[in-house]
Amino acid sequence: MFTNNPFADLALIIPAAAMQYFVVAMVLLVIISTGLDMLHKKNVVYFFRNAKKAKKFAKTELSTGKKTAVILKTVAHDIATTSELGMGKRRLAHVLGMYGTILFWITSAVLIFKYTDGSIAPTYITSLWHAGALLTCLGGYWFWFFLRVDVSAEAHPWYRIITADLFVLALLACSTFGFAWSYTQFSNMIGLSYLFLILYIISNLVLFGGVYWSKFAHMFYKPGAAIQKNLAEADGSRDNLPPPADAPERFGLGIKREQPKHY
Ligand code: HEM
Repeated sequence: MFTNNPFADLALIIPAAAMQYFVVAMVLLVIISTGLDMLHKKNVVYFFRNAKKAKKFAKTELSTGKKTAVILKTVAHDIATTSELGMGKRRLAHVLGMYGTILFWITSAVLIFKYTDGSIAPTYITSLWHAGALLTCLGGYWFWFFLRVDVSAEAHPWYRIITADLFVLALLACSTFGFAWSYTQFSNMIGLSYLFLILYIISNLVLFGGVYWSKFAHMFYKPGAAIQKNLAEADGSRDNLPPPADAPERFGLGIKREQPKHY
């Protein structure tokens, strides 16, 4: 089943160009919605104004080489491993979901643009497509059922849904229905495979059409903020914040009474 290219079979019923236009439309939706989100929240204006203000407090002028080194280190550490989530389950679940999604999207594009013309897709690409869907499900369902702040710290039931859940749920729906579509298509369950295909298309429309209202754009904002924070630390401006206190940590015995969960 991992060798199945579900898009190749679909190309026997609908033109490959229709799938390719769909992908282009989804990319455009992301670009337009993120642009509108930036205009609405004015977060990028604030970001650059703040960076300019902080620059006045810089203690050293960073050379281009030093800046590049800080940016590369941020990409390799903070962004690639989502280090801001600390060491633990939350970070592991996020990394699984993030790389799963990246794999799923890249291989979807390769399969749709390159292997819907009758040529056979290499098995490593179809396997990576299925693995991407599974990894996204693993990280996403782990987060959804056990790690969400509402569930793990505030003890709300896992089935309580709010607008903020739009992103993670649409993401999970895409990978779950995509995987189920491939499985049922491969197993010749014709009726079910059409049902999952329709659900897969709808969940993609919700995921990419909902960018303006969901947390989707954090994947662009977070890396920008991490780079700015590390540059501000390197030039000594520290975003106008005071340096960490150089004193022993004394919180009293109360700190040990319960696991810290109130974030
Ligand atoms: C393809 C890229 C990415 C995907 C698919 C992804 C996916 C997700 C999902 C599903 C959530 C849970 C959203 C929720 O609270 O309902 C999340 C949260 C989060 N993401 Fe990402 N993300 C991506 C990239 C990034 C990057 C690049 C960073 C940081 C550099 C980042 C940092 C975070 C943080 C800090 C949270 C909050 C986590 C928590 O509350 O446990 N993400 N992400």
